[in-house]
Amino acid sequence: MGSSPEAPSPSPSATLARQFSLDDPTSQWVIVNKHRPLKPADYVPADLVRPAVAISAAGEAALLNSTTAAAAEAMFAAAGRDGVAMVLASGYRSYTTQVTTYNGYVAARGQADADTASARPGHSEHQTGWAFDIGDGGGACSFQPCFADQPAATWAKANANRFGFVVRYPWMLHPITGYYYEPWHLRYVGVEAATDMLNRGIGTLEEYFGLEAAPGYP
Ligand code: DAL
Ligand code: ZN
Repeated sequence: MGSSPEAPSPSPSATLARQFSLDDPTSQWVIVNKHRPLKPADYVPADLVRPAVAISAAGEAALLNSTTAAAAEAMFAAAGRDGVAMVLASGYRSYTTQVTTYNGYVAARGQADADTASARPGHSEHQTGWAFDIGDGGGACSFQPCFADQPAATWAKANANRFGFVVRYPWMLHPITGYYYEPWHLRYVGVEAATDMLNRGIGTLEEYFGLEAAPGYP
């Protein structure tokens, strides 16, 4: 691969390259970030289902697309077998819900800080059905930095790839992803890609697919 220390541009191995669209929201490799809004902005997955896992979310937030739901069921069951409590804390969010979510962050923290934690409407992976947030079923660290040290998060970081998931917003990679560390936010990309990223030490989908960093909105 032709990467250099000055300008690393890792890309998927030949066997994985171009397997799925990076633009189509029905694709497991769709890349949504501050430079890449969902198209269409009001996209709704056609195959939303409620996975058979422990769920602390209500309404649409208990839903995932069907592929992600099946993978989540396998992952949560495996975590349980390892004695790790894992719950689905927030799954699908519609464009309309993201308006409310994002505006809530802005009201509480101001726009600049909100933009490091919550996607603007039409820019959230949650709207694709391919992503969700995990909790541990009642711990005090839900959606807090200390969640990174909880069993659910450490288990997911080490094992999620086996079920097709990556921790989408890793520690210290906000200059690339645009978001601070979210040890709870998992994104389905398939077992091959997730495992390839882990094995190669590539932390972000932007780097993996050779896309530009997206620290802020254009
Ligand atoms: N918290 C993530 C970035 C979202 O709002 O989609
Ligand atoms: Zn999330």
